[in-house]
Amino acid sequence: MKGRRRRFIPASVMAYPIHRPRRLRRNPALRDMVRETRLDPGDFIYPLFVVEGRDVRRPITSMPGIFNLSLEHAVAEARQAKALGVPAVLLFGIPNHKDAHGTQAYADDGIVQRAIRDIKAAEPDLQVVVDVCLCEYTDHGHCGILEGGHVVNDATLPLLAKMSVSCAKAGADIIAPSDMMDGRVAAIRGALDETGYGDLPIMAYSAKFASGYYGPFREAAQNTPSSGDRRGYQMDPGNIREALKEVALDVEEGADMVMVKPALAYLDVIRAVRERWDLPVVSYNVSGEYSMLKAAGQNGWIDYERVMLETLTSMKRAGSDLIITYHALEAAKLL
Ligand code: PBG
Ligand code: ZN
Repeated sequence: MKGRRRRFIPASVMAYPIHRPRRLRRNPALRDMVRETRLDPGDFIYPLFVVEGRDVRRPITSMPGIFNLSLEHAVAEARQAKALGVPAVLLFGIPNHKDAHGTQAYADDGIVQRAIRDIKAAEPDLQVVVDVCLCEYTDHGHCGILEGGHVVNDATLPLLAKMSVSCAKAGADIIAPSDMMDGRVAAIRGALDETGYGDLPIMAYSAKFASGYYGPFREAAQNTPSSGDRRGYQMDPGNIREALKEVALDVEEGADMVMVKPALAYLDVIRAVRERWDLPVVSYNVSGEYSMLKAAGQNGWIDYERVMLETLTSMKRAGSDLIITYHALEAAKLL
């Protein structure tokens, strides 16, 4: 029966004119009704780069619209995020004093700890996520302790745990380790549990690739390694099976949310993680992705706002529950 039908009426002929997908594209209301993926300001996490000093609002030239902010300006920016419906900020602290062990990362009066306190005092409901890593705090700019030219894994773990506890004490809502040391989620989970912060969630930068897209961030966070690069701890761009292994390990170690970073060149990785795990998947729309759109928009080569929303939609469609993005405020205003 089936074979006969195929012989006399080929499937391609059946499809048209019965099927006309354009029927659902006839007007904006109809298109809106059948849209599968919708962006919402609630999807976004907005990064802030906090520096010491007073009344600092220094533009980052490689990231138009983004600034190094002293505390009072960081609070103002956080208030704006909240007012626009963006539920969370991601904090990066940039201390004046840097040393070999990144001691300002876990100083209770460090810049990031003070930023957490001030933002929580001003906006108690805004969720404060803290990027836990040593590279903004070390004088050599690496994400861990350096011994004989190598970033050593196990000696770094207690320092990441100390930074996490110190940020928890300051009032952080979510701890986000970005260093890519092995075992850091377990080390941080253990330290938080032991100090009474068993309820504090960990958002792990699980699949973080060694990427050229972090270029503009270097100016924002002043964390360029003085020697070598991060390929010894961040992942090779060609590897998706290894990305899934990293996610599996972080989930086993107690991560509450997992992240893929960068986002745009790794949409397949976001999709693969989404399909294998049921925890929230976060993607990081990184500095280079942001600055490319800004540059093309400023040159009049693309419609910046349109391409921004299209790009963010691609990340959500790929399976992201949350998107860390420098576009957060601009996008929220349009939605
Ligand atoms: C620090 C860190 C980096 C980013 C987030 N956390 C830089 C790096 O690993 O070199 C990149 C963010 C961006 O490019 O927007 N470990
Ligand atoms: Zn780092």
